[in-house]
Amino acid sequence: MSKLWGGRFTKETNKLVEEFTASIFFDQKLAKEDIAGSLAHVQMLGECGIIPKEDAEKIIDGLLLIKEKVDRNEVNFSVEDEDIHMNIEKLLIEQIGPVGGKLHTGRSRNDQVATDMHLYLRTKTTELIKLIEDVQKAILSQAKEHVETLIPGYTHLQRAQPVSFAHHLMAYFWMLERDKERLLDSLKRINWLPLGSGALAGTTFPINRERVAEILGFETIYPNSMDAVSDRDFILEFLSIGSIIMTHISRLSEELVIWSSQEFQFIELDDSFCTGSSIMPQKKNPDVPELLRGKTGRVYGNLVGLLTVLKGLPLAYNKDLQEDKEGMFDTAETLEGSLKLLAPMIETMTVNKEVMRKAINNDFSNATDIADYLVRKGLPFREAHEVIGKIVLYAIQSGKFLLDLSLDEYHQFSGLFEEDIYDVLAPEHVVAVRNSFGGTSSEQIREQIKLAEAKLTR
Ligand code: ARG
Repeated sequence: MSKLWGGRFTKETNKLVEEFTASIFFDQKLAKEDIAGSLAHVQMLGECGIIPKEDAEKIIDGLLLIKEKVDRNEVNFSVEDEDIHMNIEKLLIEQIGPVGGKLHTGRSRNDQVATDMHLYLRTKTTELIKLIEDVQKAILSQAKEHVETLIPGYTHLQRAQPVSFAHHLMAYFWMLERDKERLLDSLKRINWLPLGSGALAGTTFPINRERVAEILGFETIYPNSMDAVSDRDFILEFLSIGSIIMTHISRLSEELVIWSSQEFQFIELDDSFCTGSSIMPQKKNPDVPELLRGKTGRVYGNLVGLLTVLKGLPLAYNKDLQEDKEGMFDTAETLEGSLKLLAPMIETMTVNKEVMRKAINNDFSNATDIADYLVRKGLPFREAHEVIGKIVLYAIQSGKFLLDLSLDEYHQFSGLFEEDIYDVLAPEHVVAVRNSFGGTSSEQIREQIKLAEAKLTR
């Protein structure tokens, strides 16, 4: 059998052109979606009397056989048939004879491929939502263990105020929660059905698009056939959300790398999530978080790639659109792999409470609290800030921390200091009094954890 579109041509396709224009090398990933779309289409064709019922049934049986073969990895796709759509149609005709050629009635590859992409992203988006929840659960389980574990909180990567380690971790829970919301929201637009738009202008056959939407579980039908076949916004949206997710994963990864360094030693990643050096036997490298951080680049690249493909395209379908696929697959697979690793890596990491605690005892992150102390004694905040600045400078110069200074030393700076200053400066106290909603006190974190648990669907 020659090309499905061969009728108009007098020459064979140049082999290089064939290879260059073919997408079967990568769009075979859409085989299941393509068959699902065809099954719905042909069922509708039969129901509407556009093709005889018996023919529709033969085609359905043929497609189901091909689906089984695809599932068993028994199909050899061929580059001569260019893409997944023509490969499957060819297989169908080989399987059931010329009646298979009726499948493409009232349809074009343009509305077909768009439908396949929608179906693919619907599945992936749903799977990713679950994987994000697995990471959220891992974060929650560590957070619950470490409500009372204190860690320096940083701004500018300088010690700022002590916080609970749970509080720090939970920040990532909420980033992921927004990612989940974004994915869920994008499903509204993924669930627009392009099929039934024909090549660009609709079809002359009395098709029933509502029926196809119903069979395939779409909520909305594209009201404009030209938009339907050339829209890739839903993929852009996926790639954008994916980029934001990777940004979050990358930030967390960076913290894991820093925290597990010799300099910090706040956490230790499980041996099963680290690798060694081929030359330096003492090393235990955080390759996984490093690679998660690194893979963020390709995910951003896929977004910029598709934005660039789309920006100058006239309506409606152009072959440029075939470039939408590899980036989408790559982003979906990268996200999947990353989230799958992240959850157990967080779950299995060891938290070095003592090291964190030591860090807090040896810094000035309680300085804000002496300022607040003087403010409560009536001093204007600006003046208090000035006084504390001088105390901190004095302490640094005498090699002491704020809890090491005697009351006499404090009195050199202000007569307002009393014995209770030492309770105020204790890190536990510093954390406990940050009891405003969303703050780092244990009470607030327990509230936060309750809110978080309610967000998990499973
Ligand atoms: N392989 C093509 C793609 O991925 C399918 C649509 C082809 N349509 C066309 N008119 N050439 O975009």
